Amino acid sequence: MTTTDHLVRIDAGGWGLTLVAGDDGTLRQVALGVEGADATLDFPASLYPAAYPTWGGGDPHRPAALRVTHADGTLTTRLVLGSVTRTPDDDGEHVVVALRDELFALSVELHSRTDPSSGVLEQWVEVEHHQDGPVRLHEYDSIAPLVMAAPDAEIHHFVGSGWADEWRWTTQPLTPGTTHLASYGGLQPHLQMAPCALVSPSGPSTETEGDVVGLSVAWGGNAHFGLDVRPRPEPGTPSELRIRAGANPVGAEYVLDPGERFVSPTVAWTWSGAGRGEVTRRFHRWTRHRVLRDPERVRPLVVNNWEATFFDFDEARITDLIGRAADLGADVFLLDDGWFGTTHPRNDDTTSLGDWDPDPVKLPGGLAPLAEAAVRAGIRFGIWVEPEMVNPVSELHDRQPDWVLRNRREPHLHRHQLALDPLLDDVRDFEVDVVDRTLGQHPAISYVKWDANRPVTDPGSSALGADRQSNLWVDHVRATWSVMAEVARRHPDVQLMLCASGGGRTDHGTLRHFHEFWTSDNTDPVTRVRMQWACGHFFPGAVMAAHVTRWGERPMAFTCAVALSGRFGFDLELTGLSDDELATCRRAVAVARRTQDLVQMGDVERLVSPVEGEDRSRAAWAHLSADRRRAVLFAYQLDGGPVGDRAEPGSELHPPPALRLTGLDPIAGYRVSSTDLSGEADDGGDAGGDGLVVSGADLSASGLAWPLDRPLTARIFEIDAI
Ligand code: GLA
Repeated sequence: MTTTDHLVRIDAGGWGLTLVAGDDGTLRQVALGVEGADATLDFPASLYPAAYPTWGGGDPHRPAALRVTHADGTLTTRLVLGSVTRTPDDDGEHVVVALRDELFALSVELHSRTDPSSGVLEQWVEVEHHQDGPVRLHEYDSIAPLVMAAPDAEIHHFVGSGWADEWRWTTQPLTPGTTHLASYGGLQPHLQMAPCALVSPSGPSTETEGDVVGLSVAWGGNAHFGLDVRPRPEPGTPSELRIRAGANPVGAEYVLDPGERFVSPTVAWTWSGAGRGEVTRRFHRWTRHRVLRDPERVRPLVVNNWEATFFDFDEARITDLIGRAADLGADVFLLDDGWFGTTHPRNDDTTSLGDWDPDPVKLPGGLAPLAEAAVRAGIRFGIWVEPEMVNPVSELHDRQPDWVLRNRREPHLHRHQLALDPLLDDVRDFEVDVVDRTLGQHPAISYVKWDANRPVTDPGSSALGADRQSNLWVDHVRATWSVMAEVARRHPDVQLMLCASGGGRTDHGTLRHFHEFWTSDNTDPVTRVRMQWACGHFFPGAVMAAHVTRWGERPMAFTCAVALSGRFGFDLELTGLSDDELATCRRAVAVARRTQDLVQMGDVERLVSPVEGEDRSRAAWAHLSADRRRAVLFAYQLDGGPVGDRAEPGSELHPPPALRLTGLDPIAGYRVSSTDLSGEADDGGDAGGDGLVVSGADLSASGLAWPLDRPLTARIFEIDAI
């Protein structure tokens, strides 16, 4: 059977998938992968796996993508194809495959939005019904089980222990059985698991080789991945892998009224037949093209006061820091937590959240004198807020105790605070107003760090009926996003940093309303190399805020070099810097001025892994301009650290790798200048002098010699076509 006129082809840009409805109307997956959009039917349609299997849809032995209890109590759902609509969307296509239950008034639309210039496909599901009463959605995956042959599958995921342990790289073989990865906590779930994964169905992949499926659940709440591997009975036939992804439905049954529409989170994913590097470059392009606000605007160099002062500051201290930040070369001075509270001044984390008036003791003139000091110093002023939260010790809590997200039990405190309930109209208005009136204090306040420092521990909302309290997990994200979207709409020129106890909200969904995120509170540069390596697989440098701090007490040159490979800034006690340290920081700012556009917007090429292989004592990666005329390459010699064993630097066991950069123009000549921020290297530690001249072909074939022989050192190569 070779008929193709009823095939549904989704060309995602360099790969794709083909679906078909069989004689019984069930939608089936014909093919998936590099040639997945060009498939023909080799067998009767009924022999292909269901493309969006439902509970009771015919295969009781495999996980379903959708499990519903209908209004009359029926537990099973059987979907048949209704229609397929295709609409041009930007330079791609929006394909809607509409399915309907063969017996009940329930429709399920599978949405696919292509972005051919990046090769990332966005998919989500919309459910609506017209039954006599509410329908209960127990499981509602965004992507159907992607079915593929998996001779030797493995997954790279990012499950950690929580705060300060984000983006922990883990490689796990996928053996027969079901692997379920999930995050919990609702408000800052990505502290335990980034909502991203790389799956290599056909065996370990490298940067340039192997099949890789890259997935990102673009959801600010709990996420999950289900990976189901089954052996096949025929000898020599590879196992079969099914991947599911979406919101974590555990405890989050959704009760849907007639005529209402349930929209699942979006999962963005791509298939590469040429390794992980291609997955990364696609995610970066898609993030710039379809996610990020102001993607062409180079992010500013931020100096934050948090680790310099914590809660202990006053106007004079901050004014002094603003002057020092400007002198160092900052674009923005960011005043962090501790600036607010009148009846209850915020001198530690036990009080004041909710009371967003400046503390009259610390800041008698409010924020305006600080913003003016920044303007006088020639830089911008930024401010920290945590609009979704309240301390029980606050005027807000005295006034509005019923605004708290809770059920009838006494709610748990976490960091001495409670979360507000954004399902209440008044709370959403309040949260938007927190930002409005804070920004309203001075026009020079043009940068906001939006934090959220606790999970949801006591789900419940007075806005939801008793029969649908579990809707909270989904509705909370949607309501919070509506607040964030309104803030972004009202303040289009204000840059927004997303933070949730560090990297608790590092997802492509929430990021749509922001410019960047605080990658982790853990700024120990050795750990940060590994975190930025992992996070950088999905998010471009423009998004990953990376500040120089004292965390880990590492050498300043090394610390600066690590922060320079993300969105660069400082969170340092600038008054306490030695002359040498200050000189190092100044060199780092000079490098930032020359290279941040590449780091933030260039194509990433990873060269030496700090998280895989036997030698995890080194790391190197590069950022290349789109025209291949420029690149910046970072090389790091690490020490011991939290991941894996490592050899002595320079040991015979692990000879240093060459730095082979393959993405440049082979016939062009390039000048290579290297910077050692400590100022100790022979070339004076400055890239200003004449450098080596090599061809792109040589950089690719023999590369640059590994430049480091001591732990906790770094070298930055700037490579420019001549
Ligand atoms: C969180 C953030 C930190 C800092 C503090 C302030 O932990 O991740 O960067 O802003 O809150 O209380």
